[in-house]
Amino acid sequence: MKIAITGKGGVGKTLVAAGLVLSLTKNGYSTIAIDADPTPNLALSLGIPLKEANEIIPISENNILIDSKTDTGYPGIYALNFSVNDIINNYSIPTPGGVSLLVMGTVKSMGSGCTCAANSVIRSLLRHLVVERDEAVVLDMEAGLEHLGRGTAESVDYMLIVSDANAKSLNTARMISIMAHNFGIPQIMLIGNRIETNLQKNTIKKYAKDHGLIVAGYIPFDSVVAKAGINGDSLLPMQNSTALRAIDRIRRLIVKQRTINRSQGKH
Ligand SMILES: Nc1ncnc2c1ncn2[C@@H]1O[C@H](COP(=O)(O)OP(=O)(O)O)[C@@H](O)[C@H]1O
Ligand SMILES: [Mg+2]
Repeated sequence: MKIAITGKGGVGKTLVAAGLVLSLTKNGYSTIAIDADPTPNLALSLGIPLKEANEIIPISENNILIDSKTDTGYPGIYALNFSVNDIINNYSIPTPGGVSLLVMGTVKSMGSGCTCAANSVIRSLLRHLVVERDEAVVLDMEAGLEHLGRGTAESVDYMLIVSDANAKSLNTARMISIMAHNFGIPQIMLIGNRIETNLQKNTIKKYAKDHGLIVAGYIPFDSVVAKAGINGDSLLPMQNSTALRAIDRIRRLIVKQRTINRSQGKH
């Protein structure tokens, strides 16, 4: 099961990613959590204390690692064939919930300095994680899909786009869904988050219907989760909160859906 989470900044991607990771783990899946947001903070939600979280060096900034994989001895020329499976063993961070966390760092667009080698390692690593590994993989991403090269995107089982009821979040969700579709991601679904009123829920429902988006579920505004966010607390002790229970229901839905799709020979 490979799940990518996207959406506009602040809509609740990290909450959904952490919630799914915890729910999958609790239900027997060996799970790898990937923080692919340029401003990573999944570690905190998975129970790593702030001081330790701040000391994590993202893969893309680990020059020794990048060089060890890509250096050819010739300036400006880097190797393209290298193994990445050892990176998971050596650089994933164990979290208190038993999940392995990998912090990817930024993938910069081409032409913005000497980032090609790092980009190449990140993309290969993600491809390995999504295409070749047996574990469940949950990717906490930004709004763009830069991390996903072709070949990787097609093997993502679900792209879940998180949005609240704000017009800008929904518009971003719509743009991402078009991009994801063009990338060849088979299942793209919307998640309505931070729902406090029927107006918010109905706004998301109508927007989804008008734009041909399927809603995987709605997550209520949850004061327990909001407080954890303010304090930078772990979500581990909060698995019974209303928001995390809603995310657990979404996990159940997509696992069931995937089983049905596979039995019908679809992706
Ligand atoms: N359903 C919710 N109920 C209460 N607070 C929420 C909810 N969803 C997100 N938040 C809070 O909103 C903030 C932004 O959420 P986060 O998951 O970090 O967004 P993103 O990863 O998309 O930037 C966090 O402080 C989080 O705790
Ligand atoms: Mg986030």
